[in-house]
Amino acid sequence: MKKQAIISAIAAAALFAVSGFAIAQSTGDSVKSLRGAQVDEAIGVEDVFHQDEQRFTRNYRQQPPLVPHSIDQYQIDLKANRCLSCHDWTTAGERNAPTLSMTHYMDRSGNQLDRVAGTRWFCNQCHVPQADAPALVDNTFKGSTGN
Ligand code: HEC
Ligand code: HEC
Repeated sequence: MKKQAIISAIAAAALFAVSGFAIAQSTGDSVKSLRGAQVDEAIGVEDVFHQDEQRFTRNYRQQPPLVPHSIDQYQIDLKANRCLSCHDWTTAGERNAPTLSMTHYMDRSGNQLDRVAGTRWFCNQCHVPQADAPALVDNTFKGSTGN
């Protein structure tokens, strides 16, 4: 008896789901997506959202420099770190990229290492790229030089 009640509850739920789907289908064009286009319609990315490709002035002396290139294509996980293929001291010269500063090769006890310290492994914890996109919220931040 109990089993049958559960089965009919499932059947009722399925019926409800199917009829809900039918209603959504029939309203068709009147459903507007948040981005203002049909779900399968490709819309180009506006120019403002492209990555800035210029080196940035630091806003205060200790600031981790902002990344002046896109980073989507560079994987960082437990084993791999693509950033090092250009920025590690062993590769930076031939890749013509700025070398990681010495602080990146010092472990938490102050020992100098030949490989990047674990505390500096996840680069984008501190270094972030910038997009020339409109600010989401206003802010009045001023760098320490007053800029
Ligand atoms: C294919 C080589 C390459 C890879 C991979 C790469 N970079 Fe760079 N990066 C460069 C070059 C070249 C510059 C200097 C750009 C310039 O001078 O305009 C640079 C600049 C930077 C700077 C600015 C340094 C400064 O003093 O202004 C940071 C920070 C940086 N990269 C972080 C990263 C991070 C984080 C990753 C991984 C997510 C990464 N890079 C991956 C080549 C690379
Ligand atoms: C805990 C924060 C932190 C992490 C993680 C970190 N950095 Fe940095 N990075 C900094 C700071 C702060 C500076 C500027 C001061 C300095 O050189 O120590 C800097 C400087 C740099 C510079 C400029 C060096 C120079 O002499 O101009 C490069 C390039 C760079 N980091 C790349 C990276 C890459 C690539 C990684 C990942 C392997 C990484 N950083 C991880 C904080 C960090």
